[in-house]
Amino acid sequence: MAIYTSILMVLIQLLLCASSNSYTILPPGTQRNATSKVSPLDKEAYALFSLHWWSIQYNISNRCNNWPGVECNNNGSITKLSPPKDSTYTFKRDLYIRDIDFSVFSNLVHLDLSQMDLYELPLGLSSLKKLTLLNISSNNLQDEIPFSLANFPQLMVFDVSNNLFTGQIPHEIGMLENLVTLDLSFNMFSGTIPLSLSHVTSLNHLRISNNQLDGELPSTILSLFQLKTVDLSRNRFLGKLPTTFVNNSQLRNLNLSDNRIGGYIPCEIGKLDNLVVLDLSLNQLAGPIPDQIGCLKNLTSLHLDSNWINGSIPSSIGLLTHLKELTLGFNHIDGLIPAELEHLVHLKVLDISNNAIFGSIPKWISALTQLTDIRLQGNQLCGVIPYGILIHSIHVDLSRNHLNGSIPSQIGYNLSYLDLNHNNLSGKKPKELESIRFYYLYCNPFLDDGYYDCSDSQDQRDSGHHNHHFSPSSIVLVLIIVASVLISFSSIGIGICVLRARYRRKHKNKAAKHGDLFSIWNYDGKIAFEDIIEATQDFDIRYCIGTGAYGSVYKAKLPSGKTVALKKLHKTESENPSYYKSFCNEVEVLTEIRHRNIIRLYGYCLHNRCMFLVYEYLERGSLFCNLADEIEAQELNWRKRVNIIKGTAYALAHMHHHCTPPIVHRDVSSNNILLNSELEVCVSDFGTARLLDPDSSNQTLLVGTYGYVAPELAYTMCVTTKCDVYSFGVVALETMMGHHPGEFISTLTKPSTQQLLVKDVLDPRIPLPKSRKDMQDVVHVVKLALACLSSDPKSRPSMQVVANEFLVSKAPIHVSFSDVSMYQLMNQEVYVIDKN
Ligand SMILES: *[C@@H]1O[C@H](CO)[C@@H](O)[C@H](O)[C@H]1NC(C)=O
Ligand SMILES: *[C@@H]1O[C@H](CO)[C@@H](O)[C@H](O)[C@H]1NC(C)=O
Ligand SMILES: *[C@@H]1O[C@H](CO)[C@@H](O)[C@H](O)[C@H]1NC(C)=O
Ligand SMILES: *[C@@H]1O[C@H](CO)[C@@H](O)[C@H](O)[C@H]1NC(C)=O
Ligand SMILES: *[C@@H]1O[C@H](CO)[C@@H](O)[C@H](O)[C@H]1NC(C)=O
Ligand SMILES: *[C@@H]1O[C@H](CO)[C@@H](O)[C@H](O)[C@H]1NC(C)=O
Ligand SMILES: *[C@@H]1O[C@H](CO)[C@@H](O)[C@H](O)[C@H]1NC(C)=O
Ligand SMILES: *[C@@H]1O[C@H](CO)[C@@H](O)[C@H](O)[C@H]1NC(C)=O
Ligand SMILES: *[C@@H]1O[C@H](CO)[C@@H](O)[C@H](O)[C@H]1NC(C)=O
Ligand SMILES: *[C@@H]1O[C@H](CO)[C@@H](O)[C@H](O)[C@H]1NC(C)=O
Ligand SMILES: *[C@@H]1O[C@H](CO)[C@@H](O)[C@H](O)[C@H]1NC(C)=O
Repeated sequence: MAIYTSILMVLIQLLLCASSNSYTILPPGTQRNATSKVSPLDKEAYALFSLHWWSIQYNISNRCNNWPGVECNNNGSITKLSPPKDSTYTFKRDLYIRDIDFSVFSNLVHLDLSQMDLYELPLGLSSLKKLTLLNISSNNLQDEIPFSLANFPQLMVFDVSNNLFTGQIPHEIGMLENLVTLDLSFNMFSGTIPLSLSHVTSLNHLRISNNQLDGELPSTILSLFQLKTVDLSRNRFLGKLPTTFVNNSQLRNLNLSDNRIGGYIPCEIGKLDNLVVLDLSLNQLAGPIPDQIGCLKNLTSLHLDSNWINGSIPSSIGLLTHLKELTLGFNHIDGLIPAELEHLVHLKVLDISNNAIFGSIPKWISALTQLTDIRLQGNQLCGVIPYGILIHSIHVDLSRNHLNGSIPSQIGYNLSYLDLNHNNLSGKKPKELESIRFYYLYCNPFLDDGYYDCSDSQDQRDSGHHNHHFSPSSIVLVLIIVASVLISFSSIGIGICVLRARYRRKHKNKAAKHGDLFSIWNYDGKIAFEDIIEATQDFDIRYCIGTGAYGSVYKAKLPSGKTVALKKLHKTESENPSYYKSFCNEVEVLTEIRHRNIIRLYGYCLHNRCMFLVYEYLERGSLFCNLADEIEAQELNWRKRVNIIKGTAYALAHMHHHCTPPIVHRDVSSNNILLNSELEVCVSDFGTARLLDPDSSNQTLLVGTYGYVAPELAYTMCVTTKCDVYSFGVVALETMMGHHPGEFISTLTKPSTQQLLVKDVLDPRIPLPKSRKDMQDVVHVVKLALACLSSDPKSRPSMQVVANEFLVSKAPIHVSFSDVSMYQLMNQEVYVIDKN
C-alpha cells in the first residue's frame, strides 16, 4: 500500500509539473547562456532569483540588504539562506527548487529548507562544506539520509525532524565534533543510537523522539556533561534507567516517555538537580518514587503517569516549589495525598488519577489558585468535596471515588469540565452547574433529581477489583459483540433488545414496569420500547420524516410529551452487514461523546427485528434544507449563519481534540448538520465516524459525501482529522454562499477567482452585512473556510485552531468591507472597517 501510494504521489507530482509553466524568469540584465562567463556572485543571484521565494518587487541588486531570509558576507556572497517566513509568495516554494544547484552558494553557513513540501533534496548540498546549520525539517523526505554527514565537518545544528526518513542513524554523526543541536525526531529511524554519539561532547540538545529506535537506553550518552535537552520519547528503548548520571549535570529537560523502560527509578536521579522537566510517563517503571526526587528543586514538570509505580507519594515532592505539572496517574500508588503538597503554590495540573489513593481531598487544594486542572478520578477518596475547589479550576475530574455530601455551588467562570460520576453525592444539583459546558453526575444515587442513578451491575463492576485501565468504549464494544452474537442466534428467539447496562436505573421494579427493554440517559424521563412502537404506530409511514443513508427517520411523540427522532433500519437493510456495522458504529461513537453541538443519542435497540436509534429531535432539519428553502434561507441572517459555523467548529474540535482516541466524523456535510427551533446547531450522522486508533494506519475505504471529501483521500486513503477540516471548510463556504460552492473550490488558486470581491460571493438572497460585527464575522468565516480548503492537509488549521479563532476578539479593522477580495483573505491579515 505504501509503495502504491508513493507511486501515486510521484504521478501527481509529474502531472503538477507538466501543467505548470515552469519557466525561469531571469534577473534583469543577465542572460541564461552566459553561465561560463558570469561571476560566482552572479551565479548566486541567478540561483536566488530562480528559487521564486520572493515576490517580484524584491530587486535582486539589493539581495544582501533587505531581502528577508538572506544574509551575505562583506564580499556580497550569500552566507545565510532561509525562506522568507512572512512573504505573501509562499505558494509552491518547492516547485523550482529541484532545478537549482545549491553548490553555487559556496559560502553558505546557514541553510534552512524546512517546511517546503520537499520530496527530495536539491542538487549540490553535499558541497556546502562551510555549513554550520542545516535545517531540512518538516518535509516529505524519505528513505535514508541521502548524503554523508562527513561532508559537513563544521555542522553545529542539524535538524531533519518531521520527515519520513528510515534506516539507521548514520554512524558518522560521531565525527561532528562541533554539533550542538541534533534533531531527528518524528521520522522512522530504527536500530540503536550509534555509540559514536558519545564522542560528541559539545552536544547540548538531543531530540530523537517519535522514531522506532530500540536497544538499551544509551547510558554513556545520558551522562554527557553538556547535555541540556534529551528527548528520546516514543521509541522502543528497553532496559533500566542508568545510575551513572554525573554530578552537576547540565541536564534541564529529560523526556523518556513512551518507551519500555523498566526497573526502579534510581535514587541517583536526585543528582540531576538542574532538571526543569522530567517525563518518564508511559514506561514500565516499578517500585516507589524515591525521596531524592525532592532534590530536583528547579523542576516545573514531573510526569510519572502510566507506569507500575507503587508505594505512596513521597512528601519530599512538597519541596519542588516551582512545580506546575505533576502527573502520577495510572500507577499503583496508595496512601494519602501528602499535606506537604500544599506548598506547591504554582501547581497548574495535578493528576493522580487511577491509583489507590485514599483519605479525603485536602481542603488546601482550594487555596492553590493556579491549579486549574485537577484529576483525582479512579481512587478511593472519601469525605466531601472541599469548598472552593471549583472556583479557579477549568477541568475537574473526581469521578469513581467514594465522595459524599453535596456538590459545591461556588463555581468559577472558567470551569468547563466537571466529572463527578460514580460517587455517593447527595442533596440538590446546584443550578450553577448549568453554566458548565460539560458536567457529568451519573451514578450518584442519592442526588435529589433521581436521574443520576445507575444499575447494580455497574456498581458491582466498580466496587469489585479496581480496574486501572478501564475504558468505557471497551464495554460498549463488548456489548456490541454480544449484540451481534444474539442477533446471529435470533432464530432461537431471544426476543429482547440489547441495551447499555451502563446507565440503567437501579430500581428494577421501575424498569420492569416498562419491560426493561432499554433505558435512556441524559434525558429527563424514561422511554420504553412499547412507547416507541405506540408513538409511531409500529413505524407507520405517516411518522416518517426522511430517509437517510442508512434507514428511515421517524418522529415520535412520547406519552411524556417529548418528541424524539428515531432512525430505523429496514429489515432488508439490517441484514446488510455494512448497514448494521454503521449502526453499531454510531452507537459506539455517540455514547462516548456529549457536547452541546453534537446530537444526543437517548437510547438504542439492536435486534434484527427492531433495530433503531433514539435521538433528540431537531425541529428545523438539516442546514442543507434550510439553505435550499427560499423562506428559511431569508431567516438565516449573517449572525445566525456565523453561529451555525461556530457551533459546528466547536463540535468538531471537541471530537478531534477532547476525545481519546480522537473521533473523525468522515461525513461532514450540510445534510448532517441539523438545526433546532432556535437555529442552534447539532452535528449528526456518525454512521461512518471513526475512532482514530493511534496504532493502526487509519487507512480506509473512501466514504463521505461527494463534494465534501478532502482531495487527498482520493490517493492516500488515510483518514486524519484534517479530512473533517476540509469538509468543514466546504460547509462554511456553502453557508456563506447559500449553496454548495461546487467547482468554485477548484478555481480558488486562479487569479480570476482571487480577484473576486467577497461581497460578490455571499448569498445574494439576504442583504449584505451592515453592522461592523457582522462584516467582521463574515470575513472571518470566509477566511477560515479558505484556510480549511487548502489542498495540502498540513496547511489546513486544526479544528481547535478554528474554534479558538471564534473565541478570540478580533483586532481593530483597516479595510472597507466592500473592498475585501478573495486574494486578501487567502494571503493577508485582513481587518475590516465599516466605511462604505
Ligand atoms: C548567448 O546567447 C546569445 C544570443 O541569445 C548569443 O549571441 C551569445 O553568443 C551567447 N553567448 C554564449 C557565451 O554562448
Ligand atoms: C534595482 O536596484 C538598482 C540599484 O539599486 C537600480 O539601478 C535598478 O533600477 C533597480 N531595478 C528595479 C527593477 O527597480
Ligand atoms: C572576501 O574578499 C577578500 C578580498 O577582498 C578575500 O581575501 C576573502 O577571502 C574573501 N572572502 C570570502 C569569504 O570569499
Ligand atoms: C528548523 O525549522 C523549523 C521550522 O521552520 C523550526 O521550527 C525549527 O526550530 C528549526 N530547527 C532548529 C534547530 O533551529
Ligand atoms: C514527552 O514526549 C512526549 C512524546 O513525544 C510528549 O507527548 C510529551 O509532551 C513530552 N513531555 C513533555 C513534558 O514535554
Ligand atoms: C558525586 O557526588 C557524590 C556525593 O555528593 C560523591 O560521592 C561522588 O563521588 C560524586 N561523583 C562524581 C563523579 O563526582
Ligand atoms: C535552578 O535555577 C536557578 C535559576 O533559575 C539557577 O540559578 C540554579 O543554578 C538552578 N539549579 C539549581 C540546582 O538550583
Ligand atoms: C512494589 O512493587 C514491587 C514489585 O514491583 C514489590 O516488590 C513491592 O513489594 C511493592 N511495594 C509495595 C509497597 O507494594
Ligand atoms: C479565568 O481565566 C482568566 C484567563 O486565564 C483569568 O484571568 C481569571 O483569573 C480566571 N478566573 C478565575 C476565577 O480564576
Ligand atoms: C461522608 O462519609 C463519612 C464516612 O466516610 C461520614 O463520616 C460523613 O458523615 C459523611 N458525610 C455526609 C455529609 O454524608
Ligand atoms: C451513600 O450515602 C448514603 C446517605 O447519603 C448512605 O446511606 C450510604 O451508606 C452511602 N453509601 C456508601 C457506599 O458510602
